[in-house]
Amino acid sequence: MSTRKILVTSALPYANGSIHLGHLVEYIQTDIWVRFQKMQGNTCHYVCADDTHGTPIMLRAEKEGITPEQLINRVWQEHYDDFKAFHVEFDHYGSTNSSETREFAERIYKKLKDAGLIEQRTIEQYYDPIKQMFLPDRFIKGECPKCGAKDQYGDNCEVCGAAYTPAEVKNPYSAVSGAKPELRNSNHYFFKLSADTCQQFLREWTRSGTLQPEAANKMQEWLGAEGENKLTDWDISRDAPYFGFEIPDAPDKYFYVWLDAPVGYMGSFKQLCNSKGIDFDAYWKQGSDTELYHFIGKDILYFHALFWPAMLQHAGFRTPTKLFAHGFLTVNGEKMSKSRGTFITAKSYTDHIKNTEYLRYYYAAKLNGTMEDLDLNLDDFVAKVNSDLIGKYINIASRCAGFISKRFDGKLGNIDSAATAEFQSAFKNGEIAHCYEQRDFSRALREIMRLADVANQYIAEKKPWELTKQEGKDAELHEACSTAITLFRDLTLYLKPILPVLAGQVETFLNIPPLAWNGTWKAMPAGHTINTYQHLATRLDPKLIESMVAANQESLQPPVQSEQRHAAHQQHTANKEVARAEKDFEPFIGIDDFSKIDLRVARIVNAEHVEGAEKLLKLTLDIGEEKPRTVFAGIKSAYDPEKLKGRMTVMVANLAPRKMKFGMSEGMVLAASGDAPGLFILNPDDGAQPGMRIK
Ligand code: 2FM
Ligand code: ZN
Repeated sequence: MSTRKILVTSALPYANGSIHLGHLVEYIQTDIWVRFQKMQGNTCHYVCADDTHGTPIMLRAEKEGITPEQLINRVWQEHYDDFKAFHVEFDHYGSTNSSETREFAERIYKKLKDAGLIEQRTIEQYYDPIKQMFLPDRFIKGECPKCGAKDQYGDNCEVCGAAYTPAEVKNPYSAVSGAKPELRNSNHYFFKLSADTCQQFLREWTRSGTLQPEAANKMQEWLGAEGENKLTDWDISRDAPYFGFEIPDAPDKYFYVWLDAPVGYMGSFKQLCNSKGIDFDAYWKQGSDTELYHFIGKDILYFHALFWPAMLQHAGFRTPTKLFAHGFLTVNGEKMSKSRGTFITAKSYTDHIKNTEYLRYYYAAKLNGTMEDLDLNLDDFVAKVNSDLIGKYINIASRCAGFISKRFDGKLGNIDSAATAEFQSAFKNGEIAHCYEQRDFSRALREIMRLADVANQYIAEKKPWELTKQEGKDAELHEACSTAITLFRDLTLYLKPILPVLAGQVETFLNIPPLAWNGTWKAMPAGHTINTYQHLATRLDPKLIESMVAANQESLQPPVQSEQRHAAHQQHTANKEVARAEKDFEPFIGIDDFSKIDLRVARIVNAEHVEGAEKLLKLTLDIGEEKPRTVFAGIKSAYDPEKLKGRMTVMVANLAPRKMKFGMSEGMVLAASGDAPGLFILNPDDGAQPGMRIK
């Protein structure tokens, strides 16, 4: 049988931030699809890597007092562990900071240069005289040229939504050092996307079924009407200092991070080829008959549907077979939020809920292969896991397996072929497989749960718990339970791409080889011995969700800027690549920003434990107002409440009141913490009185 040869990638996460539930939509989606392909008997390689270059990573390392290499090595391990915990099984997880990626980046660049598609141009750009570096747009702040709002980014205003160039910003300052930037000339390298050959190629490529319909429409907008030359050349170079690859024969010039990021797909795959003896060229040469799919978020379509295929095509490589873009994650219908406790990292999820297959199941139930946003409704999450996964699926085994062990020595009997008929035809008609192939996992799960209803209906009719009490009904009991176990096996096969670990446990319990999706439907023969049923999964306790959300809320941090910035990203269109590349950087603020914070001296009138809270103390604070304030502070690990009573400290008095699980918190106390253990609240000098302003 000839099998398909498929190479699959997910977007490379930046090496300066944690994996969170938003990221996981993509990795779980891809992993399910890849597992399905492998179960079909196709050759399918799944590679990914950390995206390690760029200014934010360089500055983050500097801030931490380590080298960029140290930072990216540490983060690589964290990402690797997070993916493993969620059973995202890459065939290789690399790094863009590799010799393989460097070689491909250089090779592609040279080919583009030979083809006359690289041009040098002098551009005027803001330069930070203190930091001695050119500043990307997002690292410039100042007043919005349209509405005058202060402390806006160099490319768009978060107050009025206007988009502009850094040169238009009034009273600009560097977000890196706070210095007034100077306009200086610099020589840059451009990829000539505006060349006819690129425009023509992209017009065809984006219309040839490589994109989802919504994405293809977006591309037509970006490309403009026939004859209209809307694409502009792409600046692919950055000046030193920069963490990345130097451009050959261009001293002190580096490839922009977005040039080598997708090349990282090739670099990571090359490493896999080297270790497994796979023929790299068979997958990447022009005209290859293998398939290449990139799973991405809809916000990085521009890079993957325009720059990337144009680069590959003109450098003599194959282009992607298809791009699969997905939407953003919302939690309880809103953007993930630190103040609401819904900005949840992979690590925080595993710390509280442990079973990561619950999330895989829920995401699968929501994913339909389109670019629509996906909502993680936390109540619905608990309900779906408990009613469908546990109530409909796991219960089949837990209700019937005991009889096989206790009454029939673990041996299966005959099967009721009328009851398995519907399952057999589902296997044959391939509808579920088709849904998986189309990435319509939600439809696949609806069909699987319909079959689970059929199985439960069968058990309800047979009533094994009554048969077991009746004389002479052994054969009927044996057949009913053996049939139910067979249906359970079939459901496990269908669920395996989504729940690989659970499926592995079921294979052990049923004493069968790994379930695969090829061949024909076969019953387990009469006389086949299964193992004693061990508990497979428990109900999801809503308290775990509550404690996870509370723990994320218990942070002393107010909502941080990067989160607010995310909203602006989502409005970004097309060519705002800088924003996405640099979103995790925390810039300097101006004095106007600082003076927005109302810091007050506070007397701790009372301090007490909060029942059910792992980290919080409830503080009553006198700041010279008529009524004292209540503040929940995450300092329980460091302070005995009795010892806090009567002490003076510092609080943020104008933080919007926040409704927490334990009551309303009307501000925030400040505390110092670092890498070493310990948490230290602040103490004003003697003489400071409650209510005094700190400036
Ligand atoms: O947007 C991001 O998170 C990028 N690090 C994705 C890169 S995908 C690919 F091009 F490498
Ligand atoms: Zn504005």
